Amino acid sequence: MLKTVKAPLRPLKGEIVIPSDKSISHRAVMFSSLAEGECIVRNFSSGADCHSTLNLFKALGVEIDFIDSKTLKIKGCGGKFTPAKFTPAIYTYSCGNSGTTMRLVSGILAGQNFNSVLTGDESLSKRPMRRIIEPLSLMGADISSVDAHAPLTIRGKNLHGITYSSKLASAQVKSCILLAGLNAEGETTFEEPYVSRNHTENLFKYLGADISINNNAVTVRPSIMQAKDIDIVGDISSAAFFITAGLIVKGSDFVIKNVGLNETRAGIIDVVKRMGGDIEILNPRIVSGETAGDIRVKYTESLKGCTIEGSDIPRLIDELPVIAVLASQADGETIVKNAGDLRNKESDRIKCLVQELSKIGVNIEEREDGFIVHGQGSKWGKWGKSLAQNQPHLPRLPLESYHDHRLAMSFYIAGLVCENEIAINGFEWTKISFPEFEELFSSLI
Ligand code: S3P
Repeated sequence: MLKTVKAPLRPLKGEIVIPSDKSISHRAVMFSSLAEGECIVRNFSSGADCHSTLNLFKALGVEIDFIDSKTLKIKGCGGKFTPAKFTPAIYTYSCGNSGTTMRLVSGILAGQNFNSVLTGDESLSKRPMRRIIEPLSLMGADISSVDAHAPLTIRGKNLHGITYSSKLASAQVKSCILLAGLNAEGETTFEEPYVSRNHTENLFKYLGADISINNNAVTVRPSIMQAKDIDIVGDISSAAFFITAGLIVKGSDFVIKNVGLNETRAGIIDVVKRMGGDIEILNPRIVSGETAGDIRVKYTESLKGCTIEGSDIPRLIDELPVIAVLASQADGETIVKNAGDLRNKESDRIKCLVQELSKIGVNIEEREDGFIVHGQGSKWGKWGKSLAQNQPHLPRLPLESYHDHRLAMSFYIAGLVCENEIAINGFEWTKISFPEFEELFSSLI
């Protein structure tokens, strides 16, 4: 689907409620399915990825009913699934486009007493799975694949605990190993160079799993979680598009309500502050073990470039595409490094971002492990600091989303400060994480 975007005629004003967090929605279904007892999950994501997880656990025999479109009743199986009444030699489960589903579920299925195959769509089948196959194999798992890519054939085995030191800070890998550890003999410790998002740890604690945390190392011991109602906060990764829009569309001033502000996810707030952006957190609170609050964002005339690296990266990994758009409106350079894993997301987010933003005049350079944006904050257009899309030498090609939801939405935000209308190809991929994106955006105009 080709989507055209124009600069808005008015500043963005009002109030929006950001929809449910994708990472927590996945985990709420997975962990409640594994737990003993019944619970209600409120504010479940409407994104296609989370529905891939939900359908997979239904196929595993878990009773999951919708009370309304965002509220689920889940009857946990206490750690033992009953996939189907019939007995095929092997069960096949689709993970769709969702890396979180495939990587976390692998950790759950590796220790079951049946065999399964996990499949993914074209994009997911290209994403690296060695990062989970290696540590799971050390725990005694039996996983076969061609060249460590989906489909993954998992033969259920008795697992044993390990201590694993990961080179990568990845919440998907960490969660996979911790989930396997819940059902393994002995203790399992996962250590990472920087703390990645800790929703698994928070929800494990909330549901009573046997877990302890020591700086960058998390240890679990075999345990069965006890079901408890879960309220899911709004997704800061979705809020990031609105935060950026508020900062760069002239005259904007609005409130984004119910945003998850977990320290291990809130890197974008720190970066916005480093860039001098006008942002304020209101009503901080705790919801089902997670920090949340409302965000007031205002148009900021002079933003300045900054460096984003090291421990910043796992705290804003999914926000880097839209941060590139923000950086294009700042004065000076924004340097992003140590973010090589961006190449392994739904698309090669470094290459695709650089290629596509260059089409609308963003001065952005590709680096092996990140990118550099040379901000053009001093160039003014009709609606604010404008991208140089009206430069006559630039071809007016549509921006390609490469079937990547976060690229599609980042390009939409870039379109808000372009002199001319832009077009984005594959905009329907926003359904993966944020089907409400455009409707919510329209409510601010
Ligand atoms: C996620 C972790 C991150 C993130 C992804 C969701 C999670 O991936 O990019 O969108 O829910 O655990 P990595 O663990 O691969 O960095």
